[in-house]
Amino acid sequence: MPAADPADLLVWYDRHRRRLPWRAMPGERADPYRVWLSEIMLQQTTVQAVKPYFERFLTRFPDVESLAVAPQDAVMQAWAGLGYYSRARNLHACAQVVARDHGGRFPADETALRALPGIGAYTAAAIAAIAFGIPAAAVDGNVERVVSRLIALEEPLPAAKPHIREVTQAMVPQARSGDFAQAMMDLGATICTPRRPACALCPWMVACVARREGLQESFPRKAKK
Ligand code: ADE
Repeated sequence: MPAADPADLLVWYDRHRRRLPWRAMPGERADPYRVWLSEIMLQQTTVQAVKPYFERFLTRFPDVESLAVAPQDAVMQAWAGLGYYSRARNLHACAQVVARDHGGRFPADETALRALPGIGAYTAAAIAAIAFGIPAAAVDGNVERVVSRLIALEEPLPAAKPHIREVTQAMVPQARSGDFAQAMMDLGATICTPRRPACALCPWMVACVARREGLQESFPRKAKK
């Protein structure tokens, strides 16, 4: 059985990637502000719901400076409807820290990103990879499912998280790490879905151990409650 080759995933991504408003054109580096804003909005909200909010928010606050100096009310108003309002308060606080302590530019460093308000391990890795091309592993629930199936990981979640992170990190390519991160997201959202995954369309079909055993839907294993 061949190992899953990141290059095969990137070929698939070049053909099938979702066109989303926060993504750069192929070959272009994404704007860190847009990447950050989209990742915060996507933390607890679906892609479809985020799209119109993202566009409207950018019209009101086109860059980190304009957001930093905005009154809190205006930020909350632009966020209204997205829910989980602590995200909006952290967003505003983060813009102020970036403006004040980082000269208005997001730091190109996973650890420094992680230290900003509202940015956890997943979001720091996603921004590092997508906005700065750093080979960071952005592991969310979708990626956990993809990787669990790929290697038919018997260890249940959540105990398996560190192992999944290691396996993912080992696959992240030095070049195109941002595309790799987003390809994993797209694969999890469109092909390697929780129910009835579309394995016949998967670029990693022949490498996937769960698929070979016909047990796709039984991974990831979950700890008994
Ligand atoms: N979910 C979280 N981040 C995402 C992104 N950049 N693209 C699509 N779905 C996502």
